[in-house]
Amino acid sequence: MSQAAWKGRTALVTGASSGLGADFARQLAADGAHLVLVARRVEPLQALARELAQRHGVTVDVIPMDLGAPGAPEALRDELARRGREVDVLVNNAGFGLFGDFLAIDPARERAMMEIDVLVPLALTRLLGEAMVARGRGWILQVSSIGGYQPTPLYAVYSAAKAFVLSWGEALHFEWRPRGVTVTVLSPGITATEFLAVSGQRATLYQRLVMMRSPDVTRIGLRALARGSTSVVPGLANKLTALGPRLLPRAWMPWLAHQLMRNH
Ligand SMILES: NC(=O)c1ccc[n+]([C@@H]2O[C@H](COP(=O)([O-])OP(=O)(O)OC[C@H]3O[C@@H](n4cnc5c(N)ncnc54)[C@H](OP(=O)(O)O)[C@@H]3O)[C@@H](O)[C@H]2O)c1
Repeated sequence: MSQAAWKGRTALVTGASSGLGADFARQLAADGAHLVLVARRVEPLQALARELAQRHGVTVDVIPMDLGAPGAPEALRDELARRGREVDVLVNNAGFGLFGDFLAIDPARERAMMEIDVLVPLALTRLLGEAMVARGRGWILQVSSIGGYQPTPLYAVYSAAKAFVLSWGEALHFEWRPRGVTVTVLSPGITATEFLAVSGQRATLYQRLVMMRSPDVTRIGLRALARGSTSVVPGLANKLTALGPRLLPRAWMPWLAHQLMRNH
């Protein structure tokens, strides 16, 4: 199926104010999709909306909100209904990681991370996916991470959260495929966005060597979604990393991940 499958339809991108989310929005607009952009920072969302509406002639709605606030997914669903927007493509991209020793991480931030990385994608997939299943058509991209493929010391909770997204997303792919809704999991490795600044990690030598560009990652993700793939890992180095747990003893994986991730 070509990416033009969603031409003229509406795509909602969470976390569109920077990084991967902004590039998903740019590429979906170039494909002719109308957009709904969601994140907390309103100025970058509005600047992107102006740029994309002007360049591609698509309708772009901006809904600034903290998706981690209590009841936010339901409030977003209600706001979409109020604006008469029916979502055909959902990109569950908003998220962040927290780097550091388990006990050093602020439990309140950890809870907020679990909310945005796990519970919000779950809620939005239920709230917006139900109508897609009823229509027999829709596309949902779940953004996980190669961290989801193995336990990752210093990103222990983040990598476990992304393992949840990977496992749940791949399972849901098979539940909803016969019902006309594609669910695809994209698991990027380190990508040049605001991710490291937010997580509090300095890029390691390994990360500097394998870092990918955000538009390349989002292009691979949307291509996989258009094809109806279950899951995709962008880039050769990331593919090899994700293969590790299938080729090496399980006990080696956290050790190896620790070598690649720690800041000396
Ligand atoms: N970059 C990488 O190396 C990498 C690797 C693997 C996976 N990922 C995943 O890719 C996704 C996108 O991250 P990125 O790399 O593009 O990082 P980023 O540049 O920091 O973007 C994160 C986006 O999430 C939004 N967000 C965070 N908390 C939010 C909240 N409470 N409510 C609404 N929006 C919220 C941010 O917007 P506001 O701050 O404006 O709210 C921002 O638009 C994340 O799920 C991340 O875990 C990234």
